[in-house]
Amino acid sequence: MVNDQRLSTIDRIFLVGFMGAGKTTVGRLLAQRLQSPFIDLDDRICEREGRNIAEIFRQSGEEYFRRVESECLRDLTMETEAGASGMPLVIALGGGAFVRAENADMLRATGAPVIFLDASLEELRRRCAGAGAERPLYRDENQFRQLYEARRGGYMAADRRVETGGKTPEQVVEELLALSF
Ligand code: S3P
Repeated sequence: MVNDQRLSTIDRIFLVGFMGAGKTTVGRLLAQRLQSPFIDLDDRICEREGRNIAEIFRQSGEEYFRRVESECLRDLTMETEAGASGMPLVIALGGGAFVRAENADMLRATGAPVIFLDASLEELRRRCAGAGAERPLYRDENQFRQLYEARRGGYMAADRRVETGGKTPEQVVEELLALSF
């Protein structure tokens, strides 16, 4: 358990970044360390829709997915209840969420820190390899690179950037805990 005055003053931490950045893995671990709930925006979307991400994309299209994503994010930003430990909730967003201006505005309005988990294109590609079935936007290498390049500037608008390349999820969590908020 982390006993840290700084962290107990914030009610949420948002993790953003590209597919394969480790938002879910690192987020879950961080929440464990803080003994606070972990929330994955993609899980919220799937619960609400009663189907998985690939099915939503296939059956209803990306535009529909983005609409539901924004609605679920809005609902999430209204939930202010802190974890029982008094430590911040950890919330991971899907790779496309933060780069949409309306979503970034919603997060900004909460005043909670938004942390960009960064990695090189090579590393992201390696981590995502073989996961195409669950990631409808991981189609081929060229498309992956184009999306990465188009989005990188958007992620840089986060409050903090943490490099994850060559680090274990545990090491990334240590860095997150060492940030000053
Ligand atoms: C997406 C990333 C996915 C998921 C959806 C769209 C994206 O989440 O939200 O497939 O646009 O990059 P992860 O970043 O957790 O893979």
